[in-house]
Amino acid sequence: MGEAAHENIGVGVKSSSKFIDALRGERGETSPMWMMRQAGRYLPEYRALREHNSMLQMVMTPELACEVTLQPLRRFPLDAAIIFADILTPLIGMGINLEFKKGEGPVIDNPVRSAKDVANLRVPTPQENVGYTLDAIRMVVSELRGKTPLIGFCGAPFTLACYLIQGESPGDLEYTKGLMVGDPETWRALQLKLVKLSADYLVAQVEAGCESLQIFDSWLGYVGPREYDRFVEPYLHALVDEVRSRVSVPVVFFATSVAGLFPRLSKLSVDAFGVDWRVSLPQARALLGRDTPLQGNLDPQILAGPWEYIRSSAQAILDEGRGLPAHVFNLGHGILPHTPVENVERLVEFVRSYRA
Ligand code: CP3
Repeated sequence: MGEAAHENIGVGVKSSSKFIDALRGERGETSPMWMMRQAGRYLPEYRALREHNSMLQMVMTPELACEVTLQPLRRFPLDAAIIFADILTPLIGMGINLEFKKGEGPVIDNPVRSAKDVANLRVPTPQENVGYTLDAIRMVVSELRGKTPLIGFCGAPFTLACYLIQGESPGDLEYTKGLMVGDPETWRALQLKLVKLSADYLVAQVEAGCESLQIFDSWLGYVGPREYDRFVEPYLHALVDEVRSRVSVPVVFFATSVAGLFPRLSKLSVDAFGVDWRVSLPQARALLGRDTPLQGNLDPQILAGPWEYIRSSAQAILDEGRGLPAHVFNLGHGILPHTPVENVERLVEFVRSYRA
């Protein structure tokens, strides 16, 4: 305790960690590593628990969420854990009916489509809304005993609105953009509620013990620059600025297919950017025009390929990472359910031992 990092409200970084150092811009000999969706269906021990529990039961039972969070760390020497939850679970307390359906993904049977629907959305406190996740965080942190930092996360207000309005995993965003450009007042009211929900949620995760935060804006790649400036940026900035004013842990922003938005996104006051595989790390750095640590960006789909191809791709990324202020190795998006565990094992070993 006592570091400058505690200046805000006394919550901050506890364990010394290569991952946290990298997000703060300090480069070590190797790139620290974690994987998006590292707890999940590619692990037989996850599938075994999932056989008897729904996705929501697993998230809402702190003992199960804790166990699933720790599963990948028992197998692989990863540099960070991420709490087992979903970007959509905090929406339940707003008054929406969320279900994860087999083969379909998330489904909301009372989507938000009108000013009245938005007015009816509640913004409960994190304690009353997602106390189960905060309890799970406290359990994980006590199990990790300061050895490995835990990442908390949320969905960005734009991406959460996509799910709320479309009512399912968006194939296209016609309802969302119809409301966004057709009724900007209602869009603004919705965004402000989501900013409040997510800011309080991120702060609560840090208070419960998370040492880093990641904001997922998975659907931002569907937005062009004009709409970004007017309908997205004010709220994304409001979220990041609010969180930064209240806690001091490093914040990572992740979105996919946003190379065209990088020059704008670089204004976000985050510590690092997650990069998908559609751009190289040097390209992302040039587009951001800012010397920021980057996290990424192995294409998770090639993890189904031959080891030699995986290894040379990982090596190329690590070499590119040496040219950055700092690098966290990750996948360019979440790991896929059919990924062979053996390839993951070899990948983690390779990344840990590789010295450019
Ligand atoms: O990364 C982790 O290990 C932590 C847990 C985590 C989950 N979802 C668990 C999950 C995290 C960080 C997420 C984020 C998330 N959830 C995002 C942002 C990242 C991205 O992928 O773009 C989004 C868009 C969602 C919404 C979501 N949740 C979808 C579209 C789906 C269905 C698709 C799928 O992969 O099944 C989910 C379900 C989900 N969330 C699962 C897991 C492990 C699969 C649950 C299961 O059936 O066992």
